[in-house]
Amino acid sequence: MPSCHDHLPPVDCDRVSAVSILSGEHRVILQVLAALEAMAVRSAAGDLPAADARDALEVLRTFADKCHHGKEEDILFPALEAQVPGFGPTQVMRAEHVEGRALIRAMGEALAAGGAATFADAARGYVDLLRAHIGKEDDILFRIAQEMLGPEQDAAILDAYRRIEHDDMGDGTHFRMLAIADRLAGTYGVARASDDAQTMALLTAVCGCRHGANPIHA
Ligand SMILES: [Fe+2]
Ligand SMILES: [Fe+2]
Repeated sequence: MPSCHDHLPPVDCDRVSAVSILSGEHRVILQVLAALEAMAVRSAAGDLPAADARDALEVLRTFADKCHHGKEEDILFPALEAQVPGFGPTQVMRAEHVEGRALIRAMGEALAAGGAATFADAARGYVDLLRAHIGKEDDILFRIAQEMLGPEQDAAILDAYRRIEHDDMGDGTHFRMLAIADRLAGTYGVARASDDAQTMALLTAVCGCRHGANPIHA
C-alpha cells in the first residue's frame, strides 16, 4: 500500500490543510481516470461501456469539476492571487480546467451519439490532461501554496471548503460520488483511494456527510 508521502505534498500528513484536502481529492480523481482509461481501451475496440461511462462522467462533472475545481478556482487560487497579483501558475491551472470541461462535453456528446471511437479519443485526451494537471498541482503549485498560506488563512480556506460541501454540493453528494468511484474501481480492477486511511482522513475532513450514517466513513 502506498504511503502518504508517495503522493501527497510535503506537508505533515496528520495536519489537514488547504492543500492536503485537495491532494486527497486528487487520489479519487486519479482512481476514476484509471477506470476511464480502461473504458477508453474498450471503446477504441468498438465496445463502449455506456453505463459505466455515464457514471464516470457524473463523478468528473460533480466531484472533480464542480466541487474540486470549484474549491480551487473560488477559494484557494484567489487566496494566492491576492498575495501575488498576476500569479502565473493559477492562470495556467484555470486554463487547463477550461480545457478539461471541453473534453467532458466531448465525451458526453460521443456517449449520447453512441460514438465509441470518438468517446475513446476524448477520454484519452481527458486522462492525459488531468493526470498532468494533478501532477503540476501536487508537485509544484501546492508546495508553493503551502509556503504562502499562514495558519489563519489555512483555517479560513478550510471553512470555505466546508461551505462548498454543505451549501453547494449538499449533504450526501460527496459520499455518493465516492461510492460511484469505488464501484468503477471494482469493475475495472483499479486501486481504491478510500483503502488508504490517510486519504480517507483527508476525504472526510470537510465533507458535509453525516459520517456515522455512511458506511464508507465507518
Ligand atoms: Fe486544478
Ligand atoms: Fe486539483
